[in-house]
Amino acid sequence: PRFVWLDCDPGHDDATAILLAVHSPGIQLLGISTVHGNADAENTNNNAARCLHAFNAPKDIRVCPGATKPLLRPARHDPEIHGIDGLGGVIGLPSVQSAEVRERLDAHGAPIRALEGMAEAIRTTWKQGVGNKVTVVSSGPMTNIALFVSVYPDLLDGIDEFVFMGGGVGLGNRSPSAEFNILCDPEAAQIVLDIPVKKTMIPLNVTHTAIVRDDIMRRLLSSSTAASSTVLPAADSKLRHMLFTLIGFFADSYKSTFGFIDGPPLHDALTIAYVAQPELFTCKRYRVDVELNGVHTAGETVVDVCSYRQCDDSWGRSGKNCIVAEALNVQGFFNLFLDCVARCDVV
Ligand code: BDR
Ligand code: CA
Repeated sequence: PRFVWLDCDPGHDDATAILLAVHSPGIQLLGISTVHGNADAENTNNNAARCLHAFNAPKDIRVCPGATKPLLRPARHDPEIHGIDGLGGVIGLPSVQSAEVRERLDAHGAPIRALEGMAEAIRTTWKQGVGNKVTVVSSGPMTNIALFVSVYPDLLDGIDEFVFMGGGVGLGNRSPSAEFNILCDPEAAQIVLDIPVKKTMIPLNVTHTAIVRDDIMRRLLSSSTAASSTVLPAADSKLRHMLFTLIGFFADSYKSTFGFIDGPPLHDALTIAYVAQPELFTCKRYRVDVELNGVHTAGETVVDVCSYRQCDDSWGRSGKNCIVAEALNVQGFFNLFLDCVARCDVV
């Protein structure tokens, strides 16, 4: 399997990334860390634990709280898209007070912090089989990852790939040119883009093709898609009903804020889909940097599509440092998503 660590800020689409991380064939989720972003860090942390329980994740998967603010800038959140607590409008998620959710938050009485959790997962994986490495996935601002690579540079050898949802090629969503995750902490993103580790970016250009249209909503409720042997009517499936309300709220936000009338894009789920089924994506390798100072363009990902800069083969500061996803097999992606729902439904 691919061993995966997920750093996220749930968030409606982060929740779908968690679902895929728990139920995609070929992926073994080692743990989750959380970061400020769509909501404040306390809420994103609680939400990750609530999702793990709702998605029947193995009990030993914990949530490790991370940075509460960006490296240099004040924290910004996105209540317009995700509600005040990050998972607005979702009906049927377990409460943060429930024993099972608390268990994931306070392992052995106290939480394990994000950097320690990641470090332990990488060390343990390496020891379990010589050469076993961890794929680190990020679906929020990159503050935790930048801190991790600064504090534990010796553990970079234990990471086989870093995959992130963020940025755009000439496209923004929280400014004319910047995407939310990068805009929240551009300095962190640049630190991570400079590390000598293979990296893959899933930008807005591709995530905006993964639109949950009515036919997908119907398949979500019909439960006849499946890998599942039991066919449940929608009303009997709490999970499907919960996901229906989750995507419904996200759809309303995307309609009122961005004018997306066909449905919302499941941005973050694509990171895990990429790890599970890379053949669903068409990609190309480029030099990618982040604009840190622009008056109008701070947080923009600058992708050197015309190979203007002289770059070597390294993944670090002097190289073509990042693989960039350019197209998605949309039908294949939604088949994977609905298969994960079906697998989760019969656990
Ligand atoms: C990204 O920002 C957040 O709103 C989403 O969770 C996603 O990670 C999209 O720009
Ligand atoms: Ca996110």
